[in-house]
Amino acid sequence: MAPSPPTGIETLNTLPLPSFRDRLFPYDSTLNYTHEGVSTPLILDLQTSSTISPSQIEACFALIASTSSEDYKDSSIGWSRAKKMKEMRLPDLRYILLKDKGREDGVESESVGGFLSFMLTYEDGHEVVYCYEVHLSSTLQGKGVGKRLMQMMEEVGRRSGVEKAMLTSFKANKLALMFYEKLGYEEDECSPRARKLRNGIVKEPDYVILSKRLVAKVKKPEVKDIKPSSEKNKKCKAG
Ligand SMILES: CC(C)(COP(=O)(O)OP(=O)(O)OC[C@H]1O[C@@H](n2cnc3c(N)ncnc32)[C@H](O)[C@@H]1OP(=O)(O)O)[C@@H](O)C(=O)NCCC(=O)NCCS
Repeated sequence: MAPSPPTGIETLNTLPLPSFRDRLFPYDSTLNYTHEGVSTPLILDLQTSSTISPSQIEACFALIASTSSEDYKDSSIGWSRAKKMKEMRLPDLRYILLKDKGREDGVESESVGGFLSFMLTYEDGHEVVYCYEVHLSSTLQGKGVGKRLMQMMEEVGRRSGVEKAMLTSFKANKLALMFYEKLGYEEDECSPRARKLRNGIVKEPDYVILSKRLVAKVKKPEVKDIKPSSEKNKKCKAG
């Protein structure tokens, strides 16, 4: 009998990219999206923080800067290229890239139109798939592409057997919060709560941690399945 494949997120994180892709990422290399009746193909590519090319990571950074740097600047975290780049190079981080084929001066070119980065990791002792970033260029937004990227990440999570998908979002990013809510994300139990400072001022965190269960909870018995307590007691006594 063939040995059973390794499980556990530490093991999955050590898989070389082609094996990770074969086991956990069941998608073709093209993602088509339809807008106003026109179907457009995008190239879909899975990379790790060590295999992603310098120009691709720069393109991802530029997308984050254009969509979210203002939210970072307005937050307690602040905006720092060095810090963001360091995070983007974290060892177990993986990237789902969406690339657009174009032509520049008659030469074929590829640009990154969007990406989602994620990590299989632990959060509060739970195995999770954590979405670090999801960003699309303005031309790709609102066409169902973000939802498809999130579904791909969740599928990686399901195939890895993790409990939930998680992410952090600035509270100021109302559009993203509505998007996550639409996809079934709710405030996680580990999301920071408002706290009262010694001077009485209540400090609200400027970010929220959201999650979505990927494995069904053990089904609780329905009311009709529960035996009346007298019967239950009888059974216990008899046992
Ligand atoms: C947030 C983002 C990734 C969403 O991706 P998207 O492709 O624009 O969203 P989709 O078109 O896939 O929308 C999916 C669903 O969410 C809903 N939705 C999306 N944005 C919404 C909004 N602002 N309000 C209400 N619903 C919204 C859509 O109606 C859709 O619902 P449906 O499945 O019933 O049709 C994308 O808009 C983006 O890159 N924004 C800028 C970067 C950003 O803020 N990233 C998040 C950082 S935390």
